[in-house]
Amino acid sequence: MLNFKLRRLPARVAVLWLAVVLAGCGLVFPDNMQRFTPADAAVASADPRATQAGLDVLAAGGNAFDAAVAVAATLGVVEPSSSGFGGGGFFLLFRAECGCYHFIDARETAPAAATPATYLDQAGNPVRGLTVSGPLAAGIPGEPAGMAYLAENFGSKPLAELLQPAIYHAENGFPMSPRALLGLRFRKNTVSRWPAMAEIFLPGGELPAVGYVVKQPELADTIRRFAAGGHDGFYKGETARRLVAGVQAAGGNWTLEDLANYQVVEREPLVTNYRGMQVVSAPLPSSGGIVMAQVFNFLSAYSEEQLSGPQGQHLLIEALRRAYRDRALYMGDSDFVDVPVERLVSREYMDAQRADVSLTRATPSASLQGVAEDGSAGDQTTHFSVLDSDGNRVAGTITINTWYGSAFMPPGTGVILNNEMDDFSIKPGVPNEFELVGAAANAVAPGKRPLSSMSPTFLESDRGVAVVGTPGGSRIITMVLRAALAWLDGATAEQMVSLKRFHHQYLPDSVSYESGAFTADEIAALEAMGHSLKEVQRPFGNMNVVTWDIGPNRVESASDPRGEGEGRVY
Ligand code: GLY
Repeated sequence: MLNFKLRRLPARVAVLWLAVVLAGCGLVFPDNMQRFTPADAAVASADPRATQAGLDVLAAGGNAFDAAVAVAATLGVVEPSSSGFGGGGFFLLFRAECGCYHFIDARETAPAAATPATYLDQAGNPVRGLTVSGPLAAGIPGEPAGMAYLAENFGSKPLAELLQPAIYHAENGFPMSPRALLGLRFRKNTVSRWPAMAEIFLPGGELPAVGYVVKQPELADTIRRFAAGGHDGFYKGETARRLVAGVQAAGGNWTLEDLANYQVVEREPLVTNYRGMQVVSAPLPSSGGIVMAQVFNFLSAYSEEQLSGPQGQHLLIEALRRAYRDRALYMGDSDFVDVPVERLVSREYMDAQRADVSLTRATPSASLQGVAEDGSAGDQTTHFSVLDSDGNRVAGTITINTWYGSAFMPPGTGVILNNEMDDFSIKPGVPNEFELVGAAANAVAPGKRPLSSMSPTFLESDRGVAVVGTPGGSRIITMVLRAALAWLDGATAEQMVSLKRFHHQYLPDSVSYESGAFTADEIAALEAMGHSLKEVQRPFGNMNVVTWDIGPNRVESASDPRGEGEGRVY
């Protein structure tokens, strides 16, 4: 009875009619989003060339999944500081024809030879830099496998066709942007250590000027082999041989088996509900969905009045403190360790956590049971959002971790390797590049995926749909969560990406915030409650959002004003 499209009914009438029918059936409204059809398609990504690649695929009759492959591959070429063929990521999908969600885990895995000892000195302390720079820092890449899987199982066009824009930009070059240069400045010393990398990004051994055209012919050839051979065209054969030879010659530990064994994993997304909004987000090995579920459960006990102004900010900070503490204590790759997910996301668990929360005083993180304390968060990584005119959606967050990943490129590949090994907890209580601490659950083990904060997310309610995500390391979860709260309050896509940001992650025990995130009165009130506040020097995040409001059937697409991206409606 419900299996017909509402496209021809006036939108408002259709919404009301469906809400009544679904209420009668006892169904949750968002489960039936596939009954509607958006007026437009949209793509938002961190680079206009990637957004254009996605729109071109949609214009040529491709679906959102095809577009996602073209966007991801193009980002890997024109935004090499943030993601690419040497990295990994997560793709959250919604298929309108069945109302089904899919979560494709294309996270990097630790090589078979990697153990905690690989990164520790004789005294058992982490060797500075080993997880950040050079070949030992790199996990086995998952992004090519993710793109191949996406094209093969969900797309309608051949992978080779979807990779054409990436090959074009690798071959013809792209002009160096201020943002790409900023990251390169940070990594110049490391980049200069590796000739294949330096040849491309440091012409004459120096930082290029803005506008310098970066050509990547070897990367173009690597992508051509991938286009011709699909998954195996990257993970076996010539590309695999060159990757492994380069890594081993530079002191790394990859083998051909590591690459040949790499597989994506399809997982159940993590779903939570908050005040009529359904939040569909990333499961382990991302901590994003769990942490968000915990925070929403924590907040759900308070009234709207309690959640407004400085008190609301205080309560959100207290929720984040506890959920990030649990991230540090319990979370890791659930294929390797038992994580008490059900307990952590239960209402009862957060009810108990709330018991010691004061409405007027900050809880020192040191007073919570946790891991011992002791790093900079960045906005590397990249996120894109896609909605097609059938209502299919993709939220993709992909990364090589910090700026230019490990800054290591195996000769003859053009592939910048990730430094995702730094997302493992190398030693309990010792912070990583994002100042995150962790414990045994996130220790290095062969084949294991490092715990992530990447949170590609769908928001759904009787308002409609939002496709959300951002880079930003440990701060990703807080950014997505606050964008969700803003959407619930009626924010547009533009308002969501522009929202001023603040963040707390248990340790360090301070609230980092962008200029303008708090008024002077709010700062005074939060400090009086005992919160330590630190204004960051640079804004954080690079959010890309697509929204579809079903009532007016309006599609919006927005890219973060902090970045250089573009959101467009087609
Ligand atoms: N590499 C950052 C993250 O996955 O959280």
